[in-house]
Amino acid sequence: MDLGIKGKVALIVGGARGIGYAAGLEMATAGAKVVLADLNSEGAIASAAKIADETGAETLGLQANVTQLSSMQDMVDTLTDKLGPPDIVVVTAAIVDDKLFVESSPEDWRRMIDICLYGPMNILHVVLPGMIERQYGRIVCMATDSARIGQARLSYYAAAKGGVIALIKSVAQEVGQHGITINAVSPGATNTELRIEREDSLREQMGEEKYQRREQKVLRMYPLRRIGEPEDHASIIAFLVSDRASWITGQVLSVNGGFTMP
Ligand SMILES: NC(=O)c1ccc[n+]([C@@H]2O[C@H](COP(=O)([O-])OP(=O)(O)OC[C@H]3O[C@@H](n4cnc5c(N)ncnc54)[C@H](O)[C@@H]3O)[C@@H](O)[C@H]2O)c1
Repeated sequence: MDLGIKGKVALIVGGARGIGYAAGLEMATAGAKVVLADLNSEGAIASAAKIADETGAETLGLQANVTQLSSMQDMVDTLTDKLGPPDIVVVTAAIVDDKLFVESSPEDWRRMIDICLYGPMNILHVVLPGMIERQYGRIVCMATDSARIGQARLSYYAAAKGGVIALIKSVAQEVGQHGITINAVSPGATNTELRIEREDSLREQMGEEKYQRREQKVLRMYPLRRIGEPEDHASIIAFLVSDRASWITGQVLSVNGGFTMP
């Protein structure tokens, strides 16, 4: 299927690994020029080189910190100089923090909201004026099912991502007239380093036997009886930024093996 993104410049913020990397690979395969920006600059550069090797696409790896508006502006200036302005922006940068709310601190909340809510706001604020001028843009922000139904031990992560959902719906109403779509993908549990790191710490806290019982219980909550893979999201993100999805905006699409059916 031709996605119609050949030659388009696709920026993935948080793209050094996980879902962002998989989305970059998918879009490069479809002919886009791919920029991976990440706090982890070595990872971003190495992953961009890997995508170029595998697909022959033009790629770029950049250091960037979503919590800083100036860093987002530098990122856009650099990639615009090298490849042209971003037509497609995917925001995957995030952290998780596994803690009961009563045990968390205002510093925990601030760090989370800084990355997971101010991050997307900083990015949108920097890329939207150019997209409005060019009358074209495709944006996807990652949400989470825990923002849609709540999740114990992830309260302030879920709260920040709930803010992202409200943000994309509101901004979609402002920028649709300029040919810009903005949607969110809401993953269920997905096997990326982010989840693996969280699971490793749970395994350590619970012990192997209890952890395995919990894992089986988790699987039973997924009608399709498996945890997601980064590629499950990459194909949906590539679809949402493609010509095929040009009449979809302000939507939150759960990609989650049926975990929630909102
Ligand atoms: N993996 C899951 O189970 C899952 C479930 C629900 C939602 N999500 C969401 O999907 C998205 C991608 O998740 P993932 O599992 O691929 O995560 P990941 O941890 O594998 O990748 C996130 C990337 O963001 C980068 N990053 C973190 N802070 C940053 C900052 N301040 N500036 C720039 N980059 C920064 C990290 O270096 C990392 O490369 C996230 O938004 C996450 O909240 C993931």
